[in-house]
Amino acid sequence: MTNDELVSKLNWFYSLELSQADLYMAQSKQIKNMDYYISKVLERASYIEQQHVDNIADKIKSLGKTPTSLGDVIAPILGKMSGNLVARTGLITMLKVNIMLEKKAMDDYKNLIMKIKEDDLFTLLWSNLIDEDLHTSWFSSKVQELEKGLYK
Ligand SMILES: [Fe+2]
Ligand SMILES: [Fe+2]
Repeated sequence: MTNDELVSKLNWFYSLELSQADLYMAQSKQIKNMDYYISKVLERASYIEQQHVDNIADKIKSLGKTPTSLGDVIAPILGKMSGNLVARTGLITMLKVNIMLEKKAMDDYKNLIMKIKEDDLFTLLWSNLIDEDLHTSWFSSKVQELEKGLYK
């Protein structure tokens, strides 16, 4: 992989992580009065996504380039679900949207990990990937819990 190809892949992660940091913080504020605990988890998740933004940005800079956001990367991932994101039809839909984004991030991290050599970047991508896995697990178990509540 050339330097430019790597930077363009890293800019993708930079954009996705930035979008997730913003989205989770917005969601956290939106649901504060609805579910305080989920709100705090989303706030914490947003901080972790911001750490990913920063560690990817540092890597891009160390390759001699400037981190560049590709704009709205969330809508294309969600496809027809993106409307719901704006209208926000409830906690379960919100969490399912987040799971879709986390899964996309995990798939892409895994793909890049397989293409690079074991070095600092390898370690960084792995640690981001594991954070996304933890987010996915939490979101998924909360969806299950909420769905059980609905049919009780
Ligand atoms: Fe992330
Ligand atoms: Fe995440």
